[in-house]
Amino acid sequence: MSGTSQRVQFPADFLWGAATSAYQIEGSPLADGAGPSIWQRFTRTPGMMANGDTGDVACDHYRRWKDDVALMKRLGLKAYRFSIAWARVLPEGRGRVNDRGLDFYSRLVDELLRNDIMPLPTLFHWDLPAMLDDRGGWLNPDVASWFADYANIMYAKLDDRVQQWATLNEPWVVTDGGYLHGALAPGHRSKYEAPIASHNLLRAHGTAVQAYRANGKHRIGIVVNIEPKYAASQSAEDLAAVKRADAYMNRQYLDPVFLGAYPDELQDIFDDAWPSWPAADLALIKQPIDWLGVNYYTRNVTRFDANNYPLRVASVKQDATYTETGWEVFAQGLTDTLAWIKQRYGNPPVYVTENGAAFYDPPQADDGVIDDPLRVNYFRKHLAAVSDAIGQGCDVRGYMAWSLLDNLEWSLGFSKRFGIVHVDFATQQRTIKASGKLYANVIASNGDVLNHA
Ligand code: BGC
Repeated sequence: MSGTSQRVQFPADFLWGAATSAYQIEGSPLADGAGPSIWQRFTRTPGMMANGDTGDVACDHYRRWKDDVALMKRLGLKAYRFSIAWARVLPEGRGRVNDRGLDFYSRLVDELLRNDIMPLPTLFHWDLPAMLDDRGGWLNPDVASWFADYANIMYAKLDDRVQQWATLNEPWVVTDGGYLHGALAPGHRSKYEAPIASHNLLRAHGTAVQAYRANGKHRIGIVVNIEPKYAASQSAEDLAAVKRADAYMNRQYLDPVFLGAYPDELQDIFDDAWPSWPAADLALIKQPIDWLGVNYYTRNVTRFDANNYPLRVASVKQDATYTETGWEVFAQGLTDTLAWIKQRYGNPPVYVTENGAAFYDPPQADDGVIDDPLRVNYFRKHLAAVSDAIGQGCDVRGYMAWSLLDNLEWSLGFSKRFGIVHVDFATQQRTIKASGKLYANVIASNGDVLNHA
């Protein structure tokens, strides 16, 4: 198993951080002239959100950002990965710029730098401006140029201070949740829309990278979620199911970005819904990037299932620990994922941009401690797994814990806590959990604390 025998170690300049996203933490979604996003609407659609939760207040970070940066400083973070709410900057998604929204991110970046914390903004973490959705959102081919226009506004404002950008967060989730299965905004369920949404997300990424080469001076990349697929058996049916699942979730995005082609299995999955794409689009998508962000949470043990349309796959439950979101704790999968990226895509510079777990937090003890041993254990194992990958020659440059704060876990609302810092949503009080204390020690010792029980 991962990390049990080898010494855990990280390069001296390893970038230790934590991650969040705008809609999940900011609150005040319409403040200072911001426009609505599709999440503003989705959270108001009956039946879509657990407990009817919304992002109206969330962690109130839009007003408490300064205190939150002080908290990051206490943890010793060297980097902070956050996302920019497109509709704060462009209330209609395009055209008129809202300076007050733009200034929020500029102030945040200044405060991070004052505290020696590297800002790592993501341009799009799922909160599409609602007025772009009215024009078809990710289904409208024009979305690529709308996104590049927005990106250029951000580059012009922040690239003097931001060294590392991400275009998109997890295009697979946008498509799968938003356009195929409908559990996330904008809530569509169409086999015909899903490939189009994915393709336009990738075109938007390519266009924004191209724009960055013209207008930016530093580094840009993309963030994907990778969930390695392991075969439930060696039967031909299960092996083919694994290939489909992997092509759909993992290679659908990385192959076009790095290799300029979609995996063949997508045709088999989507059948008559799979268009033939212009070669020029694939050339656009294959812009060289400076770094790759990998979000890793779990693996999947996959088998054939004729009834599960259109993938025809199902997952097989393991005799293992599962998190509150039903994900198997499997740290070896992170080592395997990083090794696979090295081997398949030529060892690009990788940052683990999200990794973490939702577990039930015991109530705060009288001495104020929030003991979250399952999350502590999760981080210990997964950090050892990253160290193992580095030992195998993977070019891993940093690690961001998901998440800095307990926050709005999308359609699951506030019911699932991922934070290394506990948030009392009634009082907005922040309390560093045992996992946060461990992580602070990891950062302070550059990982050496993990060699001790
Ligand atoms: C997303 C986060 C989300 C986390 C846990 C990732 O898919 O980028 O926004 O909260 O996983 O589900």
